[in-house]
Amino acid sequence: MTHDTSPPAEIFHGRILDTPDDPFANGVLRAEECALAVVDGTITFRGSLAEAQRLHPAAPVTIVDGLLLPGLVDTHVHYPQQRIIGGLGMPLLEWLDRCALPEEARMADASHAATVAGEFVDGLIGAGTTTALVFGAHFATATDALFRAADRSALRMTAGLVVADRELRGDLHTTPERAASEAAGLIGAWHGKGKLRYAVTPRFALSSSPGLLDSCRQTLESAPDLFFTSHVNENLAEIAVVASLFPSSSSYSDVYDQHGLLGPRSLLAHNVHPTDAELARLADTGTSVAHCPSSNSSLGSGLFPLRRHLDAGVRVSLGSDVGAGTGFSHFKEGLQAYFHQQLQPDGLALGPAHLLYLATRAGALALGHSEVGYLGVGATFDAIEVSPPPASPLHAILRHAASAERALAAVFANGTSADISRVWMGGAVGHTRGCHDLKHHTTLEVVATSQPSAPHPRGPHLLKGEQ
Ligand code: GUN
Ligand code: FE
Repeated sequence: MTHDTSPPAEIFHGRILDTPDDPFANGVLRAEECALAVVDGTITFRGSLAEAQRLHPAAPVTIVDGLLLPGLVDTHVHYPQQRIIGGLGMPLLEWLDRCALPEEARMADASHAATVAGEFVDGLIGAGTTTALVFGAHFATATDALFRAADRSALRMTAGLVVADRELRGDLHTTPERAASEAAGLIGAWHGKGKLRYAVTPRFALSSSPGLLDSCRQTLESAPDLFFTSHVNENLAEIAVVASLFPSSSSYSDVYDQHGLLGPRSLLAHNVHPTDAELARLADTGTSVAHCPSSNSSLGSGLFPLRRHLDAGVRVSLGSDVGAGTGFSHFKEGLQAYFHQQLQPDGLALGPAHLLYLATRAGALALGHSEVGYLGVGATFDAIEVSPPPASPLHAILRHAASAERALAAVFANGTSADISRVWMGGAVGHTRGCHDLKHHTTLEVVATSQPSAPHPRGPHLLKGEQ
């Protein structure tokens, strides 16, 4: 008697939407009612249900309700900042002083950080994000807690210790030497472990000395496949401060360039106010940009020049930028990206395929994960089921949508995390709507501790130069 020793397969059948080919380069939305066979977390077949079952007669069949989309890819999000979402009414530097940095300082407390790490990873996955580039904390223990939480969850995550050694508040400062040795410890523990990778993460040029950026460069060269991320050209007052701190640099992004920090494994967030020369250099070096539209609106940073980026050949993906961003949902970010283009005289007319691409495949490619962001043969099965609750408006819209494009547009226009019923990562269910782990829910503590604070009394604060 022979035994079938091939790994078990699972079949998924339903309305599957993805953008394997870039819609900014004539790709179109692929929308098919079809089946996928998944073996060991990888899609091995895409086609008819009958053929999938002929290939895998014993495989269980999961019927997808609503729509099946690739898992969403968030290329810019801050782990310490979930609890301060909603700090409205301030421009960047004031918001950092009053909202973000006091909350970042709380991450010195290891047990607080471990709780926030669990909340953060649950929040991301609950929003359908299966791959993310994450700003860690200024504290190595807290950043380690983030990696632990991601490791438990199967999230595909690139993240790193956030480093700064000037401006900001003093309790967030490190030194170039400490930054290097703490990064080395975290890289040794986590880089390349499962789905985790390390990103060298100076907070932004404004809070970095040249020596710190040199140490970042050395760390970046210390192991294969390390990633680099930071902020750039977000706000006009910020840009002016950076120009005064780095008088020999020709632009904001030139600060990173002069320190050898641009390249195909580098991703900079925002870039709302770039010069043409900067865009040309980002394209030449293969550096990607994370567009964070809800954050840009919330902080009044400006309207992202998407057309100029694409004309220059710069790769663009989407970031939620929680907590300046207003939530984890990439449906909302996609919609805001669409709005921002509508509001500009030379804005691009984005359709649902563009939004899905920005929210999935573009981010996967920016992060070097060619195996995710689409649902074809060879891809890892990272996917989300969008199945709005019965009686919700989106449920009715999807049932009656005239086309797949209209259905997808409605998901971006009207969808939220609550419409995501199941999330798979590497073929395994990582989230099911309604099955929340309540241990992280500390509502009273949140109310008591997350109000905007006054600027920290110690150290130079950032309000000077703010417009
Ligand atoms: N620039 C430096 N730090 C931050 C941050 O936490 N959020 C945003 N949006 N911009 C930044
Ligand atoms: Fe940010």
